Amino acid sequence: MEEELRGLAEKLLRRAEAVIAHAHAPHSRFRVAAAALPGGSEEVFVGVNLESDTYGATLCAERVALGAMVTAGFHRLRAILVLTEGDEPAPPCGICRQLISELSQGEALVFGAAGGRLVVWRIGELLPHPFRLKEEG
Ligand code: THU
Repeated sequence: MEEELRGLAEKLLRRAEAVIAHAHAPHSRFRVAAAALPGGSEEVFVGVNLESDTYGATLCAERVALGAMVTAGFHRLRAILVLTEGDEPAPPCGICRQLISELSQGEALVFGAAGGRLVVWRIGELLPHPFRLKEEG
């Protein structure tokens, strides 16, 4: 990974590491933390996975982080890092890929971190054919 991207990933990783212990994962016991960086800002928004007894209401860490970012008024995502337990970095699930694609117009960098490993994808390679609502007018 090139130097500049690694620097960005490490900054996001530190933020994700600071909150992963807060993950609410009583069912899977698989803790995840995400750190989202909007375009045109240095502010980072974090989230952890939030599991529900209904299972279906479970929220991924990515969507919790993106919700915080949008709530703060940022609608354009530049980069998001996903920190998972285990040895292999995990790319986001399909639902999160869709939202990452929408919030970045298909441009976001997606970092995966686990077990000391750091990888980078572009959302366009993870979701090459996103759903888009037909533009009005
Ligand atoms: N999970 C995430 O938080 N992000 C992903 O991209 C994939 C999965 C969470 C959801 C659930 O709490 C646990 O990981 C196991 O699926």
